[in-house]
Amino acid sequence: MRTLLQAATDYAISYLDGLGTRSVAPTPEAVDRLKVFREPLPDGPTDPAIVLRLLDEYASPATMAMAGPRFFGFVIGGSLPSALAANWLAGAWDQNSALYRVTPATALLEYVALGWLLDIFGLPAACGGAFVTGATVANFTALAAARHAVLAGVGWDVEANGLCGAPPITVVAGEEAHPTLLKSLGLLGLGRRRVVRVPVDSQGRMRPDALPPLPKPNIVCVQAGNVNTGAFDPIREIAPRVHAAEGWVHVDGAFGLWARTAPSRAHLAAGIEDADSWATDAHKWLNVPYDSGLAFVRDARTLQAAMAVTAEYLPTASEERNPSDYTPELSRRARGVEIWAALRSLGRSGLSDLIERTCRHARRFADGLTAAGHEVLNEVALNQVLVSFHDPGTTLRVIADLQAEGTCWCGSTVWQGRTAMRISVSSWATTDADVERSLDAILRIAARHRR
Ligand SMILES: Cc1ncc(COP(=O)(O)O)c(C=O)c1O
Repeated sequence: MRTLLQAATDYAISYLDGLGTRSVAPTPEAVDRLKVFREPLPDGPTDPAIVLRLLDEYASPATMAMAGPRFFGFVIGGSLPSALAANWLAGAWDQNSALYRVTPATALLEYVALGWLLDIFGLPAACGGAFVTGATVANFTALAAARHAVLAGVGWDVEANGLCGAPPITVVAGEEAHPTLLKSLGLLGLGRRRVVRVPVDSQGRMRPDALPPLPKPNIVCVQAGNVNTGAFDPIREIAPRVHAAEGWVHVDGAFGLWARTAPSRAHLAAGIEDADSWATDAHKWLNVPYDSGLAFVRDARTLQAAMAVTAEYLPTASEERNPSDYTPELSRRARGVEIWAALRSLGRSGLSDLIERTCRHARRFADGLTAAGHEVLNEVALNQVLVSFHDPGTTLRVIADLQAEGTCWCGSTVWQGRTAMRISVSSWATTDADVERSLDAILRIAARHRR
């Protein structure tokens, strides 16, 4: 076992060492070589060292260098060394981190991390919290608590009786809500299409003047950080109206919530503390390994009411917090350990530096592109940049050439009818030099396509 695990460490270290110099996208040749895996299941065992070597030889070169410093697609962080190392160790522990009495170390680390997270986000210390797989499930989890609470408010027990015959809930979200928020609502039986959508402004921010009537029971979902523009819904204006109507305010802050930890960006997320529940990702801006998301609910009892289970064979009775009392899963890996390690190693100043630095990089991209005469479509207040290279065809050709050239990787989007390239700077590993090198590549390729 020692030799095998040592080999895995060596492979992983040389993989990470090579990320700065290899093409960010895998080459077509590397992807072609993946065909080695298309084989029937062997009849007998294979030496684990050979199994591992297959992965290193054929899979590693065909990965996208998402853990590297110049991947700017989607909203994707790398893995902080502290978080990756903690992930390896926690993997070796292999704890089913559901119940304190069975897995006290990981349950306690998660509890401590929860307290730190509520502190850095400026949310009430008594919030319930769930460590889940990502923002999609974090939205699902928090909205399950919302569904419980608003129906309990009109005398309906949704956990016992389901939704058949329940009073209808008015659910509201902005026109630019993330599609996974609608998916989460659909999974909760609240319907993707019956959500009342609120018109937005040029940055995708919900227009508070366009908020619909809010009969009881109701849930209003606001967004902190639009995936294209980085913009925040004006929660300061929305929350009091929802609360006056005895409704529930939920914040999808998949990455935007982290703005709260950076002095120069915190104003963007002002008022978010007035909501009833929040969802965010740790695998985006905190830079912990996949998969890692977080849900927080002001009234912890509502989250527990939606999620906790008991059984004779489970030692659920405990003075201490049971992680699975708050999550859709019972059996679960101890993903709180990586979050604890990331926060413990960064400290407050390291975390705010990470957020400030990536926002600064985004600003540099925007300034460099604008100076070269390209149109930046969004107000670059956070870590997202949208740039158009004239017409849709040219923009898509620039993106395709950039991805093939390999210096960096950016994706495409259509923002309010305009085809654009997205640059999302979320990785701890990106340096000023990486930004300059990537900007040079983008400008060089765009110049080739200039009309
Ligand atoms: C605002 C928002 N909500 C939800 C999600 C979904 O997050 P995940 O893919 O971690 O489930 C994203 C992903 O980018 C997002 O930007």
